Amino acid sequence: MRNWRWGLVLALTILPALRARPPQQEIVAVPPPWAYGFDAPTGAPPPDRPDSAARGGEDIGVLRHIPDSTLSFTLTQLRDNYGPADWFPNDHPPMPDIVAHGHKPDVVACSFCHYPNGKGRPVNTMLAGLPYSYLMQTLADFRNGKRRSADARKTNTNNMVKFAKQMSDDETKAAALYFSSMRWSPWIRVVETNMVPKTRIANGIFLRVGGDEKEPIGHRIIETPEDVERMEVLRDDRSGFIAYAPVGSVKKGEALVRTGGGKTTQCAICHGSDLTGLGPVPGIAGRSPSYMVRQLYDMQHGFRTGEWANLMKPVVAKLSADEMLTIAAYLASLNGAPASVTTAHK
Ligand code: HEC
Ligand code: HEC
Repeated sequence: MRNWRWGLVLALTILPALRARPPQQEIVAVPPPWAYGFDAPTGAPPPDRPDSAARGGEDIGVLRHIPDSTLSFTLTQLRDNYGPADWFPNDHPPMPDIVAHGHKPDVVACSFCHYPNGKGRPVNTMLAGLPYSYLMQTLADFRNGKRRSADARKTNTNNMVKFAKQMSDDETKAAALYFSSMRWSPWIRVVETNMVPKTRIANGIFLRVGGDEKEPIGHRIIETPEDVERMEVLRDDRSGFIAYAPVGSVKKGEALVRTGGGKTTQCAICHGSDLTGLGPVPGIAGRSPSYMVRQLYDMQHGFRTGEWANLMKPVVAKLSADEMLTIAAYLASLNGAPASVTTAHK
């Protein structure tokens, strides 16, 4: 009886106190919402249904065109998630069935989110030019519960995990072979500025609201389509993105990436001297800065724990959210040539 009472006292007093201790080494307290496509760190998840107005609204059957293609499609053909229309079939090798059509009902076509040319969008990511063995490894990590998003509201990452589980071995190999066979090429332009065009988030992407209104950038990178109509409505995979970053980010990021700055390890040791990848290690140059920050944060907080992710543990251990931001801004500015950044003088 006595022991039972002591047990209760222990449970009521000491255990909650133990639990209330702050988590160890929590460098960045919450996932930086801008990198995950949200405007606040907590709050209701976005609706399940996409914001269809941002994607051109209802299809009224009109054939659509884009500047560089002779083809024409209706909105329904363009946004068919088991076979989205392909404006530039000559820009890439023939797509394997899993990439072009997915398999119903469990796997949406890879080309729907990552695009036929593998360039992907800030909400998902670029796959073109990643090493075959890396693609196989990371798809296995998704499948085996070793890779998920630090922000549980990020529905498309949750879906990516489901797709990886539902793909057959042959489909996984075919997709990895396809995306690794393509060459990496840039489609992001970094602009440093402290005032950004006012945006709203639709389907996880920052869209300019139009007009001249600006707002302080704060501690964010705002990645927004160069041309909203061509990217969001027409799904033109030759159009690209602007990444607005706070003034001075690229230079600070360059110092961390190139020297480690006492906070991290030189990235080139593993990612290659031009940071476009080395053997099985993925390229990190010219890729979406929001995606890069998501991965650095996910790895720092134990949401990416695959075997190879261990090599990144000491790299991310001491980084602050702002340091991740500057690193991502610098990496995005690398276009395979000297860093390309413009500064908006406003
Ligand atoms: C619904 C949209 C969607 C579809 C369809 C989709 N993905 Fe993804 N994929 C994502 C998202 C989102 C991420 C990034 C996760 C993150 O940022 O946390 C991702 C990431 C990946 C990555 C990791 C890339 C890296 O650099 O580590 C691979 C590989 C990948 N996807 C392969 C595929 C393949 C193969 C298919 C087709 C079977 C596919 N995806 C279909 C949304 C999608
Ligand atoms: C000791 C080797 C090593 C060093 C140093 C290193 N990386 Fe990595 N990095 C890796 C490996 C291996 C992976 C693949 C991890 C996996 O499979 O999950 C990776 C993955 C990544 C990813 C995720 C890529 C993707 O497609 O999802 C990012 C982002 C990244 N590294 C950034 C950096 C940055 C920035 C630096 C320098 C500050 C750096 N890395 C230094 C080995 C390294």
